[in-house]
Amino acid sequence: MSFLELAQRRQSDRGYLDKLVDRAIIERCLEAARLAPSACNSQPWFFVVVDDPELRKTLAGRLYDIVMPGNRFALTAPVLVAVVAERPNLLPRIGGIVKDKPYYLMDIGMAAENFCLQATEEGLGTCILGWFDEKGVQGLLGISGSKRVPLVITLGYPESPAVRRKVRKGLDEIMAYNGYPG
Ligand SMILES: Cc1cc2nc3c(=O)[nH]c(=O)nc-3n(C[C@H](O)[C@H](O)[C@H](O)COP(=O)(O)O)c2cc1C
Repeated sequence: MSFLELAQRRQSDRGYLDKLVDRAIIERCLEAARLAPSACNSQPWFFVVVDDPELRKTLAGRLYDIVMPGNRFALTAPVLVAVVAERPNLLPRIGGIVKDKPYYLMDIGMAAENFCLQATEEGLGTCILGWFDEKGVQGLLGISGSKRVPLVITLGYPESPAVRRKVRKGLDEIMAYNGYPG
């Protein structure tokens, strides 16, 4: 599969088969995440993989609420991965303040996307979740309240393997050569 095909195939899957995911596959996805770039190579991430059936159901219960009932599909995911933001090195931390850019969030986004692309390559589905009860997730997984959990990723064999048409802005709307338009 070419890289563009892989990028095309990756999609948010919001329903999974009741089929376990081999830990070797999960670890290949995490290996892809581990290789992601980060500001000053600070690698400010930690991944809590939840594949215990009871624990994952309880965790999934903290990923949806009245405002975001759509995340209820997380109950079907055989694996949930909570991405914990670790304290970055001094340099990117200071750089982030000086330049007013939360580098650690960009780093975590890239690691999450690498994870999802490897999962796609393995024939698995993922969905990145950013809306959930963060305190509830921290409490359940023993993560200190001082550490943010920016994302949880669902992982599993998708219920519907069909690749949907991507809804995206056209290239002409998102780029220009040699200067910003207008
Ligand atoms: C930072 C971030 C947070 C997201 N949070 C959620 C979420 O809470 N629930 C959900 O169903 N999808 C969530 N998504 C998935 C997006 O809705 C999805 O990527 C987007 O609609 C494009 O669709 P695609 O991933 O199928 O290409 C999130 C994606 C990102 C990158």
